[in-house]
Amino acid sequence: MPVVDRCVCRGITFADLKELAQRTGADLDEITQRTGCGGSCCTCIPYIEKMLETGETIFEVMPAPARKWWFSKP
Ligand code: FES
Repeated sequence: MPVVDRCVCRGITFADLKELAQRTGADLDEITQRTGCGGSCCTCIPYIEKMLETGETIFEVMPAPARKWWFSKP
């Protein structure tokens, strides 16, 4: 099963984003402001949210329907 461990657009790993969140208390919006992750193609947003919820930093690639909700967000 393919895995993902980073924001591909910015090349920043979820492990680095987790460290940032732990050090600063940054939520998704602040992570996006500080790093740009989640601000381009948005594919990494569900993974960053899951990272913030669970602390995991490597994920099986989510099927498209699991990500679809994000792309309909205003
Ligand atoms: S993969 Fe993170 S913004 Fe594109």
